[in-house]
Amino acid sequence: MQHAFERRDDTLWIEQLSLPALAERFGTPLYVYSQAHLTQQFQALTDALKPQPHLICYAVKANSSLGVLRLFADLGSGFDIVSGGELERVIGAGGDPEKVVFSGVGKSAAEIDFALKLGIHCFNVESEAELDRLSERAGRLQVRAPVSVRVNPNIDAQTHPYISTGLRHNKFGVAQVHALNLYRQIENSPWLEARGLDCHIGSLIMTPGPLIEALDNLLGLAESLAADGIELDHLDLGGGFGVPYHDEAPFELQQYADAIKDRLGNSNLKLVLEPGRFLVANGGVLLTRVEYLKPAPDADGRNFAVVDAAMNDLIRPTLYQAWHGIEPVVQHADIAPLAWDIVGPVCESGDFLGHDRQLALAPDDLLVVASAGAYGFVQSSNYNSRNRAAEVLVNGDQVSIIRQRETISDQLALEQLAPWQR
Ligand code: LLP
Repeated sequence: MQHAFERRDDTLWIEQLSLPALAERFGTPLYVYSQAHLTQQFQALTDALKPQPHLICYAVKANSSLGVLRLFADLGSGFDIVSGGELERVIGAGGDPEKVVFSGVGKSAAEIDFALKLGIHCFNVESEAELDRLSERAGRLQVRAPVSVRVNPNIDAQTHPYISTGLRHNKFGVAQVHALNLYRQIENSPWLEARGLDCHIGSLIMTPGPLIEALDNLLGLAESLAADGIELDHLDLGGGFGVPYHDEAPFELQQYADAIKDRLGNSNLKLVLEPGRFLVANGGVLLTRVEYLKPAPDADGRNFAVVDAAMNDLIRPTLYQAWHGIEPVVQHADIAPLAWDIVGPVCESGDFLGHDRQLALAPDDLLVVASAGAYGFVQSSNYNSRNRAAEVLVNGDQVSIIRQRETISDQLALEQLAPWQR
């Protein structure tokens, strides 16, 4: 199952529910997630990795709704977090702190304390300064902090520059040549314990090559550490493996899994992975309705379909020039297709969901924006004072709201006038 939805006759369905019925009941714009699809992606990854002992730590940042986190917690997943807020969400969803890895370059003292008290699986440390802070905070709390150093292997993940993280000039991780020193520092602190070795070279990586190269680098480093008397429990290879959004060939998951098993099969190292997008991207759609059609006035003009979702709801096209499939939910047999720019109501020319889409459209049509399960709702904002969309989870013929549509009172709740304005 490539996508969460399928066409039956002329209408799109998610599991046992039709998208028009969901739009009718919950309104638009609406994020819709398929429990079956998310479960299936998790299972596919687990099956590909068998029998390698591993811990999948779902990257919470990809989609952090409590309902989605609970689903993964129920499947036995761990979690990769990058903030205290994400840790609160994991706990709120019933996740197990012992299966949490904490990544990110800017962990605050308060965030570190919170994670230390909960007893997380591992801190993925990204600098010497962070290591010092972690040791100091652990000392105050009289606990030992489990540590992996995140190395930056200087490998080109061949992805968009904004989501490439494993190159020297990226802010992430420490250069491989410095890693050994950091592990010596860990060995010298009574409050730190070397657990693993970590890297994450980027996101939306479509071939296993760069990831396997990073793995080989990590293994080389683990060997040098062992020669120095530093034994580790796990290798954390991060996430980053992509899914097709358009007509790309799917990521060769089995090839990647086999390469991992080949290399780790005879070692005592456990495997940790931090997939986000792979698990959720194609399990979600953004449902939106056409407000106005604005066909080109002349041959040089463009045809605009103005819909009720905008860059504040899904910023990926604007921010990364990302391509998302867009299709009418109900197909028209009697309308000639035209090349439409699908745009939102936000007052920016960068507000678009897709350009030049050959579609047969009528006013009030429902459209589905595909592959919106990852980095969709989580990157939404209130720009133009727009209320953020609602989110629903579908399970067979059941559906439930997992996040209410925002209201203007929600938006205004934290604001007040200065006393001299009252
Ligand atoms: N681990 C770490 C340390 C990460 O920074 C990330 C993503 C992941 C795991 C999960 O990567 P994934 O498996 O989802 O590729 N907003 C961008 C993607 C940003 C990814 C940031 N880090 C987008 O919409 O494409």
